[in-house]
Amino acid sequence: MSRAVQLDRRFVWHPFTPMADWVAGDPVVIAAGEGNYLIDEQGRRYLDGVSSLWCNLHGHRHPTIDAAVRDQLGRIAHSTFLGLTHAPGAELAERLIALAPPGLERVFYSDSGATACEIACKIAFTYWQLRGQTGRAKFLKFVNAYHGDTVGTVSLGGIDLFHAAYRPLLFETLAADSPYFYRSELATHAACGDAVLAQVERVLAQNAGQVAGIFIEPLIQGAAGIVTQPAGFLRRLREIADAHDVLLIADEVAVGFGRTGRMFACEHEGVSPDLMCLAKGISGGYLPLAATLVSGRVFEPFQAKGVTFYHGHTYTANPLGCAAGLASLRVFEEERTLENLPAKIERFTARLRGLLSHPHVGDVRGWGLFAGAELVADQATKEPFPYAKRTGAAVCLAARRHGLMIRPLGDVLVFIPPLSITTDQIDAMFDAVAAALGEVLPA
Ligand SMILES: Cc1ncc(COP(=O)(O)O)c(C=O)c1O
Repeated sequence: MSRAVQLDRRFVWHPFTPMADWVAGDPVVIAAGEGNYLIDEQGRRYLDGVSSLWCNLHGHRHPTIDAAVRDQLGRIAHSTFLGLTHAPGAELAERLIALAPPGLERVFYSDSGATACEIACKIAFTYWQLRGQTGRAKFLKFVNAYHGDTVGTVSLGGIDLFHAAYRPLLFETLAADSPYFYRSELATHAACGDAVLAQVERVLAQNAGQVAGIFIEPLIQGAAGIVTQPAGFLRRLREIADAHDVLLIADEVAVGFGRTGRMFACEHEGVSPDLMCLAKGISGGYLPLAATLVSGRVFEPFQAKGVTFYHGHTYTANPLGCAAGLASLRVFEEERTLENLPAKIERFTARLRGLLSHPHVGDVRGWGLFAGAELVADQATKEPFPYAKRTGAAVCLAARRHGLMIRPLGDVLVFIPPLSITTDQIDAMFDAVAAALGEVLPA
């Protein structure tokens, strides 16, 4: 047993991990990365099929990003953003605003997806307070939403498995269903979306004058199990938010930075949110960095003399993270990352659909290079496997033996590779999945 494993077992507590199982297990120790591969202590290579938790964009040890971080290290690793500024933070803000949907004008930095969303929540609430609409303190969320693990974002979340235990600590929110078509009784995905939107309208009407904003993961509710929204859903939600004069808050933490085939998911629907939350891919997957982008309208009352938004973090706008973020955006241009995506997405989608030929794959869904495959005990009845069997986890473990590192969400296998994945690597990824399915769930 390596020293890292010994020390880990003795001293470390891992996120989202049943520790009794963990300490009895045999963990993989990641020693290095190279391009789209992770390399363990024994030198085994694994394709990074979930981009190191959905954040790596251009591969590991990308020369441009490595050089930018080294260059910034040669200047300064960190100085505070409270009362001071620095070039990487200011320049990245300019670039983000240039790329973001029209109307977003200001960047408030933080350091994780949860903080980006927590900040959006506080800004939206404060916006209405400053506008004199002090009764607007409620937020609408969707069933199975996930916006992070702080108490505020858990309040805005809707995944019972993660969130129910904390109910006594949480603020109240309004909820609408999510357009989870695979398990809906409605005939089409569009009808499923319509039903949810009708519910949103009802809830907003019943709470007129009390709602500050709607939190949405645009196009895909990731942690919910890759639950997709039908085309037009987000656009209609924007119209409904406008009709009820409620802010629309787009959590692009997971779907931002090219994952769905466009720089931001909102672009597919021509939607400009009032606030937009970014993290994960913002630094190319290199360093903890996040940003909450705010429209001119929302920022306006905060410009008044004497107004302060009382929120900040020690590592807000860490210069190394900002330098990595700027370099990542340069890579998008130099490597024509977005232009190269359609061919990759075509192969990825074809191979994803191919999984449906396995009798225990009930559904596949996603956008761009962001997808999931739902495993079921019975394809015809959609009966799930018993939760305790942890079938998804078993398939992912088997995939590891075939050189692919993926993590499930329950019994949904998740595929979110770096944007730099090649078509050959896409084939290798789905070959590994097919082999793993064959071993764990022989047809
Ligand atoms: C949509 C969404 N929002 C927020 C978060 C939280 O991000 P972080 O883990 O960086 O706090 C996640 C993480 O998976 C996410 O998928």
